[in-house]
Amino acid sequence: MQAYPVSVPLPSDDKRWKLVAATMRRHNYNATALIEVLHTVQESFGYLDDVALRFVASSLRLPMSTVFGVATFYHFFSLKPPGEHTCVVCMGTGCYVKGAARLMQTIEEIAGVKAGQTTADGKVSVVAARCIGACSLSPAVVFDGEVIPRVQPATIRDQFRRWMSHDA
Ligand code: FES
Repeated sequence: MQAYPVSVPLPSDDKRWKLVAATMRRHNYNATALIEVLHTVQESFGYLDDVALRFVASSLRLPMSTVFGVATFYHFFSLKPPGEHTCVVCMGTGCYVKGAARLMQTIEEIAGVKAGQTTADGKVSVVAARCIGACSLSPAVVFDGEVIPRVQPATIRDQFRRWMSHDA
């Protein structure tokens, strides 16, 4: 089968888009890979936003309505994080061995939430991701779309304090 020379540019230089593109490439940009591609987006970003859906639709040459239909049909896809802020903790092997579990534990201690949950005040949604493509920066965490390298429990504490205070 001939490879489809896709020319859709990545939405940004966020390395997570490369993972999404790699999943599509692995499936030769075949439309039947849609669900798996959406899974990769969700595992990397925590949810599927409009930018992601458009990127996937153009890359797989599918109508936006099809992609949107699939994304809304399955309950395991979410189109928005429920919290005002999103904290994605990479739990891939590279980050795990560098202390990602400790970071998750810190979040639970200070904010009372685990992966997949949102703080009671609606401020922060916490997501566990597989490798987000930044292993050289492990352990890596993504605060509101910004990849933070070599995160320590203190980094988590500071960020959550800022987010959960009134002026965040
Ligand atoms: S394992 Fe975390 S970025 Fe690769």
